[in-house]
Amino acid sequence: MTITTCVFDAYGTLFDVTAAARQAAAEPGHAQLADCWQKLAGDWRQKQLQYTWLRAVTGAHTDFWEVTQNGLDWAMEASGLSDPALRERLLALYWELSAYPEVPAMLSRLKQAGMNTAILSNGSPDMLQGAVQSADIGDVLDDVLSVESVGIFKPADAVYALVEQRFGCARGEVLFVSSNGWDAGCATGFGFTTAWVNRGGEPMDRLPWVPAHQLTDLTTIPDLAARS
Ligand code: LAC
Repeated sequence: MTITTCVFDAYGTLFDVTAAARQAAAEPGHAQLADCWQKLAGDWRQKQLQYTWLRAVTGAHTDFWEVTQNGLDWAMEASGLSDPALRERLLALYWELSAYPEVPAMLSRLKQAGMNTAILSNGSPDMLQGAVQSADIGDVLDDVLSVESVGIFKPADAVYALVEQRFGCARGEVLFVSSNGWDAGCATGFGFTTAWVNRGGEPMDRLPWVPAHQLTDLTTIPDLAARS
C-alpha cells in the first residue's frame, strides 16, 4: 500500500535524549557529572521508559513529565548525585533537547513530496511543544500527537490509533519511525509499516513483531516512504 503519512516517535528518534546530560556535564561546576554522564543518561532513559510501561499495565497513568522526573531521581541516586541545582538544570535542558542534524531537511523533503507528517509521542503536549520550538521544526510537521489525549503510554493500541483518527488513513498507509526497538516492533503489530532507527547498533528486541526496515539514521526516510 502506498505510504501517505510519516509519523515519528519523538524522544531518541527526532530529539537526542542524551543531550541534556552531555551538555550539563560540559558546564562549569558539574565536575562530578562529567565523570558519569553517560551512565546517568542511560539510567535516566531506561527508568523513564520502565515507569511508562509499569504505569500503563497498572492503569496508574501520569504524564511523561512526571515519569521523566522520577527516572532522573532514580538515576541521580544510582550515580551518587544529590545536587538539587543540577537536577533542575538537567530537567530544564530536557525542554530544549537538540534534534539530530538530519531532521529538518528530512522533514522538509517529506512535505515537498506531499506526505502527511507528525510526531506520535509519550511526551506531554507542553514538553513536545518546547522541543519542537527549540528545534524549529513546527513548519514541517502537520501535527504533534501526544498520548495525553488517550491517557495511556505506548505501546497501547489506543496510542497508535490516534494516527488513523487524525489523518483518516489506513494503517498500511503509515510509515512509523522510532529509535525504540520495542516501539517499532509493537507498531508493526498494530499494522503500520515501520522503520527502526538503530543508531547504536543494538540487538533486535525479542518480540512477536519485527520492524519492516532498519536504518542507522533518518536521512533516507523520504526515499523509503516513496518506494514502500
Ligand atoms: C516517545 C518516547 C517513547 O517519544 O521516546 O514516545
